[in-house]
Amino acid sequence: MEQGRDRFRVTGGRRLTGTVRISGAKNAVLPILAAAVLCPEEVVIRGVPAIRDVQVMLTILRRLGVRVREEAGLDGLTLVLDPSGLSTAEVHEELTREMRSSIFLMGPLLGRVGWVRMAYPGGCAIGPRPIDLHLRGLQELGAHLEEKGGYIEATATRLRGREIYLDFPSVGATENLMMAAVLAEGTTVIRGAAREPEIVDLQSFLCAMGARVRGAGLDVIRIEGVRRLHGAEHTVAPDRIEAGTFMAAVAAAGGDVKLENVIAEHVEAPAAKLREMGVWVEEEADGSLRVRSRGGLQASDVKTLPYPGFPTDLQPQFMAVAAAAMGTSVITETIFENRFRVAEELRRMGAQIKVEGRTAVVKGVPRLSGAPVTAPALREGMALVIAGLAADGVTEVCGAHHVDRGYERLEEKLRGLGAEILRV
Ligand code: EPZ
Repeated sequence: MEQGRDRFRVTGGRRLTGTVRISGAKNAVLPILAAAVLCPEEVVIRGVPAIRDVQVMLTILRRLGVRVREEAGLDGLTLVLDPSGLSTAEVHEELTREMRSSIFLMGPLLGRVGWVRMAYPGGCAIGPRPIDLHLRGLQELGAHLEEKGGYIEATATRLRGREIYLDFPSVGATENLMMAAVLAEGTTVIRGAAREPEIVDLQSFLCAMGARVRGAGLDVIRIEGVRRLHGAEHTVAPDRIEAGTFMAAVAAAGGDVKLENVIAEHVEAPAAKLREMGVWVEEEADGSLRVRSRGGLQASDVKTLPYPGFPTDLQPQFMAVAAAAMGTSVITETIFENRFRVAEELRRMGAQIKVEGRTAVVKGVPRLSGAPVTAPALREGMALVIAGLAADGVTEVCGAHHVDRGYERLEEKLRGLGAEILRV
C-alpha cells in the first residue's frame, strides 16, 4: 500500500449519474480460493475483483505451495491456480492477523492433507469474532484439535461425515465445514446452515470440481464425500454488498444510476428498504438495476439479519443515508456486537446518532457538513465516503486502505458517475 495516499478527499453536493459495473463478490471469491486447495489439478477462477483481501489470500496460497497466475481482463482478474504442488499446511500469524477469514482454509487443508497449523485469527473492529462453531464442527467431523502458543493445530487421518448442527447460521463456519466434508468418508449434513448467495457460489465451484454438495441457499446442506476432485473453471458471482453500497450512495447523493452485473434478487432487502425511504429501484429489461433519488428521503427502521434479511455489511452505509433523511430511523444490529463505530465519525459531520448497545437511533438532519473523519473498518469507511458525497463541503476520509480491502477501483467508479473524489 502506498504510504501517504491513504485518504479520500470527497467534495459533496454532486448528483450521481451514469452506469457502473459491479465487480465479483469478495465474500464469494475468498472461500472459493480456499476451496481450490482441495483440488490436485489446475483450476481457473474468472471475474475476480482486484482487491486487497484477494491479494492476501493469494499470498497465503503461494506460501502453501500453490502456483498462482493472474491475468487482468475487462471483467476482473482471471486466476489460474495449480494446487498440485501443495507443500505445507501451516499458515503464519502475520497472514491470519491480516485477514481473519483465512480461518476457512482449515477445512480444505484438513481435507486435502489431513493436517493444518494456523495462528488464531485476530478479532477486528466489529467484535471479537470467535471461531467456536468452526472448531466444534471440525471436531465432529473427526479432527483432533490442539491450541498452543496462539496457534491451532488440527489433524485427521480421514475426516468422517456426520450430522452437524450450527447454533447460529455462521457464514464462515458453514463454508469451512462444507469444504472439510467434500473429501470426508461418507455423508455430512449441515443443519442450521447460513443461506447467503456466496455459499451457493461456493457450492457450484465445489460441484464443478466433482464434489457432491446440495442444498446451499437453504438451511440444510448435504455433502457426500468423494475420493478426489478434478480441475474446473468458475466465474465468481456479482458482489451484492458492493451493489447495495452504490445503491446507498445514489440514495444519499441523489441521482440516476444503472448498476450492471447485479443479481436483483440478492439485493431485495436493501432495495425494499430504500424504496420505503423514497428511492426508486427497478430491474431493467437488460438485467441491470436502475436506482433514482431526488434526495429528501424519509427515515426508515432497519434490523440486520442473516440472509435473506438486511445484510449487516450494508448497515453502516444505511446509517449514513439515514443521517440526512427526514425523521428518525432506528437501526438494530443483530449480527455483530460492535458495529456502530462509524456513528462517532458521522457525528463529526453533524449527524445526530444515539447508540445504546445493539440499537442506534438516528435523527435525520437537513444536511451533513464535510469534516475530517477516520474509517474504523471496511464498510464503515464506505459509509463515510457516502456521507461525504451527500454533505456540504469537503470530507477527508482517513483509512482508504480499509476500503481497498473490499472495493475495486472505488474512486474511479465514483468519478465515472460524476462524484468529486480524489485519493490524497
Ligand atoms: C462473513 O464473515 C463475511 N466475511 C462478513 O463480511 C459478514 O459480515 C458476515 O459473514 C455476516 O454476513 C466473509 O465472508 C469473508 P459469521 P464471518 O461467521 O463468516 C459469530 C465484510 O465486510 N460467530 O456469519 O466471519 C460472529 O462473532 C465482512 O465483507 C460465532 O460466534 O461471519 C459474528 O457475531 C465483515 N462463532 C456472527 O457469528 C463462530 O464460530 C456472524 O459471523 C463464528 C461466528
